[in-house]
Amino acid sequence: EKQGFKHFMLKEIYEQPGVVRSCLESYLEINWTSQETSSSPYPIRLGLEESLLENLEQVQIVACGTSWHAGLVGKYLLEQVAQLPTQVHYASEFRYAPTPLMPHTLTIGVTQSGETADTLAALEMEKQRRNGVGEKFQARLLGITNRPESSLSRLVPNIIDTHAGIEIGVAATKTFVAQVIAFYLLALDLAHRRQTLSRDRLGVLIEGLRQLPAQIEQVLESQERYVEALAHEFVETHDFIYIGRGINFPIALEGALKLKEISYIHAEAYPAGEMKHGPIALLDAKVPVVAIAMPGTVFDKVLSNAQEARARDSQLIGVTPLDEEEARHTFDVVLPVPEVDELLSPILTTVPLQLLAYHIAALRGLDVDQPRNLAKSVTVE
Ligand code: M6R
Repeated sequence: EKQGFKHFMLKEIYEQPGVVRSCLESYLEINWTSQETSSSPYPIRLGLEESLLENLEQVQIVACGTSWHAGLVGKYLLEQVAQLPTQVHYASEFRYAPTPLMPHTLTIGVTQSGETADTLAALEMEKQRRNGVGEKFQARLLGITNRPESSLSRLVPNIIDTHAGIEIGVAATKTFVAQVIAFYLLALDLAHRRQTLSRDRLGVLIEGLRQLPAQIEQVLESQERYVEALAHEFVETHDFIYIGRGINFPIALEGALKLKEISYIHAEAYPAGEMKHGPIALLDAKVPVVAIAMPGTVFDKVLSNAQEARARDSQLIGVTPLDEEEARHTFDVVLPVPEVDELLSPILTTVPLQLLAYHIAALRGLDVDQPRNLAKSVTVE
């Protein structure tokens, strides 16, 4: 079943180009074989009830763990692309401290298993408390999952099936990437409805999405061996720091979570600009820093935050498209990723961080697919 891979996790990392392709193919009506940009100006078909997305004023997202990280990328997209104020809540917090009721609100539950107790409870609570308080407060629930047959869909009639299929490794990989793809489609659909993006920009982003599967393949092909070799340097490391900004801050969080859950190495993530407000005190030669530095709004800022870490003797690993010559000035080690539109970059920056966590844990001889103390579905509170 592992098809020659040592662990399910690695197999699932390698399934990502296919998963992204099949998620996009399900909801994008474009010509996949032609090199041309999308034929239709509005090719997104999510198949949701029309009333769900009409006259929205805000979005709230409830989720746990890695799905919460996908929600953070979703927030960035919904706010920056569709101009919709969005809050992301840990489901376990929201269910006991719900935010004040606001009208015309879309509530999105994100869960790969579709069975996470806290996420289901938060959605149920939202449904109950909005019952009978007037039309404009009516519950509008949307689920994002790869398990459309799960308990989630009994509670939430509108589902975006991410088409990631079943994931066996306890560490979420392909399901995360597919959840993020679902958020791109939703944000672009809403941007079109709300006219917050020009037709040209929409076309450019859709074309960018279409390129992603081949670009993920490129990252996998170029880095698999390299990251495996690099992992030897970190087998004995005790602490890691991950930094990113903007749309790549959630990817720093996700990279750190992957490392801690399967390798049991302590890892923390911060928005790079926060380092000087405390965490920089942790840095020395024993604490490597992984910096996600993608060209765009915060590129120079991340590079200068990275330099500050290097000045504290931390080994600096850059996830960046900078060429070797340029990168050498800033980073000790580079995990190269193709240069893409900043908005689409999280899909590509995720992959080297998954590989890094995987290879460190595998070299430590750990049970990567079944890490201690963790379960694939957390069906208890
Ligand atoms: O099934 P869900 O997406 O609702 O699960 C949420 C978390 O339990 C899950 O993402 C967990 O953090 C994973 N082990 C992450 O790899």
